[in-house]
Amino acid sequence: MKRNRSSTPRTPSQCVRPRLGEMLAPSLDSVRIFLHILAAGIWVGGQIVLAGVVPGLRKIGPEATQAAAKGFARVAWPAFVLAFVTGVWNLIEADQTVGTGYQVTLGIKILLVVAAGGAAAAHAASDKKVVIAATGAIGLVASLVVMFLGAQLSSAV
Ligand code: HEM
Repeated sequence: MKRNRSSTPRTPSQCVRPRLGEMLAPSLDSVRIFLHILAAGIWVGGQIVLAGVVPGLRKIGPEATQAAAKGFARVAWPAFVLAFVTGVWNLIEADQTVGTGYQVTLGIKILLVVAAGGAAAAHAASDKKVVIAATGAIGLVASLVVMFLGAQLSSAV
């Protein structure tokens, strides 16, 4: 269902969405946003959790960090693809009359998605400490900004 942002209900009493009893009924929009947030949470949250557990794993040995990195990649890359696909789906469903601010924010978000994916790929491929540290930090910061810009887009207008 295309969303007309300017007429988005601002109070519960203005809400005309179909209901299930007192609850809002689920819709394709809720499924789309759910999948986008799920994928975003796995991609960004996974990096934060990994950053938290890696120092402890290093004390066990390189095989422990490698196993964690492999496990992360198995879950995080499919989540990244899902975030991309549902992001494009968001775009298709977005109100096409949105203003320049929305378009610019979206453009920056997409550039940062590419930067985050590139940094994460370089992080996984490198065996140089300085490159691993720099690309890990860039990937995480870019992903966090992407998430914040997503919140900006969803709360726009
Ligand atoms: C790692 C990649 C991504 C992350 C972490 C991410 C994160 C988010 C988050 C947290 C939201 C707010 C969801 C909400 O509460 O409504 C959002 C919304 C949005 N995202 Fe993404 N996103 C990613 C990729 C993409 C891509 C690749 C695109 C476009 C090609 C995109 C387009 C959008 C749009 C248009 C919205 C607004 C949805 C709406 O409210 O209608 N996202 N994103």
